[in-house]
Amino acid sequence: MRILHIGDIIGRTGRKAVTSFLPEVRRKYRPDVIIANAENASGGFGITYAVYEELLKLDIDIMTTGNHIWDNRETEMSIHKMDKLIRPGNLPEGVPGKGVITISKNEQKFTMINLIGRVYMGLSDCPFRKFDSLREQTEGFVMVDFHGEATSEKAAFAFYADGKAGAVVGTHTHVQTADERVLPKGTLFQTDAGMCGALNSVIGMEKEAPIERFLKGVPRKFEVEKRGKMLFNALFFDYNDNHEIVEYERLSITSGD
Ligand SMILES: [Fe+2]
Ligand SMILES: [Fe+2]
Repeated sequence: MRILHIGDIIGRTGRKAVTSFLPEVRRKYRPDVIIANAENASGGFGITYAVYEELLKLDIDIMTTGNHIWDNRETEMSIHKMDKLIRPGNLPEGVPGKGVITISKNEQKFTMINLIGRVYMGLSDCPFRKFDSLREQTEGFVMVDFHGEATSEKAAFAFYADGKAGAVVGTHTHVQTADERVLPKGTLFQTDAGMCGALNSVIGMEKEAPIERFLKGVPRKFEVEKRGKMLFNALFFDYNDNHEIVEYERLSITSGD
C-alpha cells in the first residue's frame, strides 16, 4: 500500500498548493491512500463543511485535524456529516466526531488514528493510553497523526508506539522535519510533516501581524498569506503485505510567484 500524508493545509493558499502540486505527485508516487491534515484549511483556522467537500474533490481520502478543530462554530454541528474527517481521539469523552477511521483499499484495511499532545496544548486525555485502547479495537496497518507542539512528546510517543503502529507522523508546527526514519521495531516516524501554504510566511500567515505581536504583545488578527511562492510538504511511504515499510520519502516542493 502506497500512502501520502500531506502536512497542515493553511487556508486558500494551502488548498491552491495542493491543487497545483498534487496531480504531479500522484503521477509520480501513485498513492493508494491520500491523507491530509485539514485543521487550518478554512481561512487558516478550522474547517467548514464547504472546504471539507472541496478537499474531497481533490481526492483526499482521509482528513486529520488538531487543536483548531472547533475554530469555526459550524464544525461542531456539521462534523457528523464529515465522515472522512477525524479529530483527535483523546479529546474528552462526549465531544462530537470520531478519532479513528478505517478504510478499505485494494482489499486491505488501513486505519488512521488522530491524537493530540498535551505539551503547550489544550485540554485532552492521555494520548499514550488512548492510543492503546483505540489500537486494541483495530486490525491491520495503523497510522497515527500525532498533533503536537513539542518534538520530545512526539518522539516519546513514536517510541511508545514502535511496533504497535505502522507509522507515526507529527503535525501542528507547520515546519517539516528532516528526521524521517524507521524505528527499531519497524514503525516509520517523522516528527512533523510540515505544511501546504505560502513559503514566505510565519507558519502560513502574513508575517506583519505576528512580528508586531512579538514586538509589542498586542493582539493582532492573523491573515493567511496569499502572496508569493507556495510550499507543499508531505511524507510518502509504501508498506508490504507484512506491514513492513519498504520505501519512504519526504516531499518538499516550492514554486510559483
Ligand atoms: Fe496546523
Ligand atoms: Fe495545530
